[in-house]
Amino acid sequence: MEKLRADDRPGLMEVFLAEYGLSSKEGVALMCLAEALLRVPDQKTIDALIEDKIAPSAWGSHLGKSSSSLVNASTCALLLTGKVLDEGGEGISLVLHRAVKRLGEPVIRLAVQRAMRELGHQFVLGRTIGEARARGKSARGRGCTFSYDMLGEAALTAGEARGYFDAYSSAIAGIADGLASDNPRENPGLSVKLSALHPRFEVSQRHRVMDELVGSCLALARQAKKAGIGFTIDAEEADRLELSLDVIAAVLRDPDLAGWAGFGVVVQAYSRRAGPVLDWLCALAGELDRKINVRLVKGAYWDSEIKRAQVEGLQDFPVFTTKAATDVAFICCAKKLFGFSDRIFPQFATHNAHTMAAVLELAPDKDSFEFQRLQGMGEALHALVGQKFATRCRIYAPVGAHRDLLAYLVRRLLENGANSSFVNLIVNTDVPARDVAADPFEKVLTAGPVPASAIVLPARLFGQRRENSRGRDLNDPIELEAIEAARAPFRKRTWLGQPLLVDPYGQTEKHTVFNPADPGDRVGEVIFAGPADVRGAIGNGQIWKLPPQER
Ligand code: FAD
Ligand code: 2OP
Repeated sequence: MEKLRADDRPGLMEVFLAEYGLSSKEGVALMCLAEALLRVPDQKTIDALIEDKIAPSAWGSHLGKSSSSLVNASTCALLLTGKVLDEGGEGISLVLHRAVKRLGEPVIRLAVQRAMRELGHQFVLGRTIGEARARGKSARGRGCTFSYDMLGEAALTAGEARGYFDAYSSAIAGIADGLASDNPRENPGLSVKLSALHPRFEVSQRHRVMDELVGSCLALARQAKKAGIGFTIDAEEADRLELSLDVIAAVLRDPDLAGWAGFGVVVQAYSRRAGPVLDWLCALAGELDRKINVRLVKGAYWDSEIKRAQVEGLQDFPVFTTKAATDVAFICCAKKLFGFSDRIFPQFATHNAHTMAAVLELAPDKDSFEFQRLQGMGEALHALVGQKFATRCRIYAPVGAHRDLLAYLVRRLLENGANSSFVNLIVNTDVPARDVAADPFEKVLTAGPVPASAIVLPARLFGQRRENSRGRDLNDPIELEAIEAARAPFRKRTWLGQPLLVDPYGQTEKHTVFNPADPGDRVGEVIFAGPADVRGAIGNGQIWKLPPQER
């Protein structure tokens, strides 16, 4: 249970996002800047980027609006930066303007980098597990526990994946150090991302993934079991879902994990497959006689899921396209989870007061679940709920260097900057409380089958102009099966390729062609065009120079 403190007010991040959400031009500029700044390698590009994103915006309109002095100070800095950088500024001669700009840039660069670092500090508990544990002391004193997350994901090389494995392994040792209990429910735990543990965590590399990633994930799970702490697999992009479930099943099946209540899986309620995934997990736990933890979240990759489906011309989106549908799905999944209590311990991760209230309504008692929040988010809400209902609270706490924060930070800025997000609505005094806490079921029912706010299907992306090109989802096993079935009749066929002339000019030599991806696979033969073929083709082509009646 997290106890209420005297100074429980919206956190810096919530106040910041209320002033600079994604609905203002300046908010979008800041998100873009944050997104890009951390990976820009050189000073010159950093300056160009700051100029591009800061100069054209109306920072003055935000001055003094926020209740937070830090947000106001940032506004002031951004306003000055914008003025210094604004080439078209009135009243200063161009030469002076350029000089000020030159003098100002290092200062501006530092200020903006500092501001970004401050944002990072909100979300990261420490650079090392030791530092994070020390900084988490006061939250522990208020009855919270942690699930640590070592920053970094989507390894690109085997070396990077080994680095993340080592970081996870040392984190387990660090978390376990000095723990009094061996009960993973009471103890802090670790959250891992499978994409960090393998450089080719993708469906096309399934064999490698099952051979290599299952082994490394299992080694970490065994270490966590031995240490008495929880071990949770984060949910990532929808196209990795089925492969993740295959890895999870293979790891959980290991006899060494029998009798351990620390293994956890994250399920995203925005996924259209969330309900069946929960049924599948419950059935798996039953089949293997295991008890598992399921952390229910709404999902952090919404924008990229929508974009990917549009870019690839998929038939439909893998996620719901209205916020209310996701809220409803979360509550339905919560109800389902309470029905699986013999096999699954539910953990509800949300910063939305309505969603938490719905969980409290559905829960049989306070000990049958735990609430979770992210470091730097929803602190006041969780403290209030903890005090009133004596519920358990766990904080997901990223640990690592700020340079590894980028992807995580962008997800936080996108999900919280959206004006439909709960944390954005709650600090917006223009939105009445009744609207903030509106019933999502009613919204879904009144919106009808195709709500006005729903996103058009990928095929209709270009409206009346044209239909979007159709893509194939090469990560979807059902679609892959259909492609394989369509290819099957041609698998044994051998092909002959030759010049497309009516009269071949005597070339007969055949060259065998092998599949470059599989040198044992003989595709067929090819007869190349020779000089006589080319001359013949040119001769044939001359005919088209003649008027039609003479051809
Ligand atoms: P709300 O404001 O109520 O909901 C925001 C969410 O609604 C968005 O994030 C999105 O999921 C959904 N949404 C917004 N607009 C739309 C729309 N137009 N159509 C459909 N849906 C929409 N996320 C992961 O993906 N994987 C993880 O492993 C993971 N682990 C987490 C662990 C913890 C402890 C916590 C607290 C969060 C975790 N998250 C994870 C992040 C989580 O998905 C987001 O924090 C969460 O979605 C925000 O939801 P909310 O209920 O707090 O806020
Ligand atoms: C993320 O990395 C919290 O796992 C979630 O966005």
